[in-house]
This record gives sequence, C-alpha cells and structure tokens, in this order.
Amino acid sequence: MSQLSVAHLIGIKYLNKNDIDLIFKTADHFKEVINRPIKKVPSLRDITIANLFFENSTRTKLSFELAEKRLSADIINFSASQSSVTKGETLIDTVNNILSMKVDIVVMRHPNVGAGVFLSQHIDAKIINAGDGTHEHPTQALLDSYSIREKLGSVKGKKVVIVGDILHSRVALSNIFALKLQGAEVKVCGPTTLIPKHIKSLGVEVELNLKKALEWCDVANVLRVQNERMDVNYFPSTREYTQLFGIDKALLNSLNKEIIIMHPGPINRGVEITSDVADSTQSIILNQVENGVAIRMAVIYLLAQQIKRN
Ligand code: CP
Repeated sequence: MSQLSVAHLIGIKYLNKNDIDLIFKTADHFKEVINRPIKKVPSLRDITIANLFFENSTRTKLSFELAEKRLSADIINFSASQSSVTKGETLIDTVNNILSMKVDIVVMRHPNVGAGVFLSQHIDAKIINAGDGTHEHPTQALLDSYSIREKLGSVKGKKVVIVGDILHSRVALSNIFALKLQGAEVKVCGPTTLIPKHIKSLGVEVELNLKKALEWCDVANVLRVQNERMDVNYFPSTREYTQLFGIDKALLNSLNKEIIIMHPGPINRGVEITSDVADSTQSIILNQVENGVAIRMAVIYLLAQQIKRN
C-alpha cells in the first residue's frame, strides 16, 4: 500500500493507522534527504502550492514553505492581513482567484472551524489543513507522534499527558486522535474550565493533579493558554494557573522518573513552562520543529501522487 486513504488532509479524524504508518515511512526518507549536503529533491517540479494563512503562524508557515521548496514545488504565499480580505473579499472568492492561477495544492490556516472541509467541497485542489480554529491541526499531531516514535522507538503503549488549555486547542484534539490510533494511553490535565465536558468519549482520562499526571506519563505535551480565543475568564489569574499547571525544573526533579517534555509552540515562558524546562535535555521541542519539515514533505508528496499529471 503506497497511497493515502484520503484525498485531502483535513483532520487526523479521517485517517487510519496505515495512513500514519505511510506518512512516517515517507517522512523517514525525507528526513534523510534534508540532512544531506544537497537537501532538495525534484519530485514536485510540476506542482504549484498556495499557502493561505488567515491567522498568524511562525512554525507551521515556515515549515510548509521549506518542505515545498525541498520538494521543488512552485509556491505562492498569501497572508490575509496583507490581502483584499481586509476589503471584504470572501474566502471562496479569494481562493477561486488564487486557483485560476492553476494551483494544485492549497495549504490553509483559518480561524473558523471547518474551513478546510468547506474548501474541499468547493474547489478542485488538494487541501491541507494547517489549523482550523479550535478544531484540528493534523500536521502538528503527526510531527508530535513522529517525534515520540523517534525518541522512544514507538508510540504504541506509551503514556502521554496533554497539559493546559485543552478546550481551545486544535493541537490537543488532533493529538488525541493520532495517539489513540497508534495505541498510546492518553490523559489530559488542566483547569476543569479548560477541559471539554465530553472529552472522555474520545477514550482519554482526565487528571486534575499535575504532579500525579506527570508521575504517570512517559511524555508531557504542554500547551499554551490561548487567551486570544477566550471571551471570558476561565481561571482567576495567570499566577494561579502557573502555580497549579506550570511545569518548572523543581517539579520535574521531584518525579520518580525522567519524562519527555514537548510543546507545539509558541511558548509562554514562565507561564505553562519555565525556560530551564523548555531548554533542558528532557525537552524535544526543537526536534519537533525539525521533524515538522520531513512530515510536511511526506504529506505533500503523498497527496501530490494522487494528482493526475498530463
Ligand atoms: N505549532 C504551531 O502551530 O505554531 P505556529 O502557530 O507558529 O504555526
């Protein structure tokens, strides 16, 4: 089997275990390529990719762009804040204008849940969701699992706790789907107000005590509090949040084992994680960023294989 079961990458929810295995196997190859002196392959010389970012990004945007360049695709970049969207142009009009320039693949980040599905139903191009509101961020979850596999040998059977603002996190949801599909055990930990009511229906446990959660896990994936998505206060103060759910070196050193620390970024140093933890040897945060390029190369390459070329 060398084809994905899906026509677009909208969410991990639509993938199966074989898809993840294929993406990882392909990423292994591309990781080897990007560590060579010549880091480029000609695979997608005939493919044009549009990167549409309706929401800010550092890692995802740069990582997709680099992945596309490493595959020799032609690329165009679009930032909503510098576009005619600010003059009232709709998503569909914007995308149709871009597609009339003969684009094969669209990578899109959008603040609205379901924007990727909507696009896939209205335009004739491959869609890769680079984050849709609080819904899914599939390539982040893939690179997170790939980084766990690289560090621990496999994801199956590993205990992973996701700490922080689960309610507003597309990274949390995509990670839960990806980890469960691969046979990991998953817990979430954070203030009760930031844990979705029906989270247990996804097969994850809730642990409100951070120290207990860290004692249990092999890996802690620490999330940022997404203040920009909050219209009310979900906890009394940042200081209290940090006291109850912040991870510092003293807490890590008090555990009965050495766990791995992950964070999708951007980090709020001193809030959910201290610098001495983020920059410690237990942290694989920059490995996640490095693996993001290989994972995105794999996803783009595999979707491009489904495009009929004349
Ligand atoms: N992890 C992540 O999505 O970061 P950016 O918002 O910087 O892309």
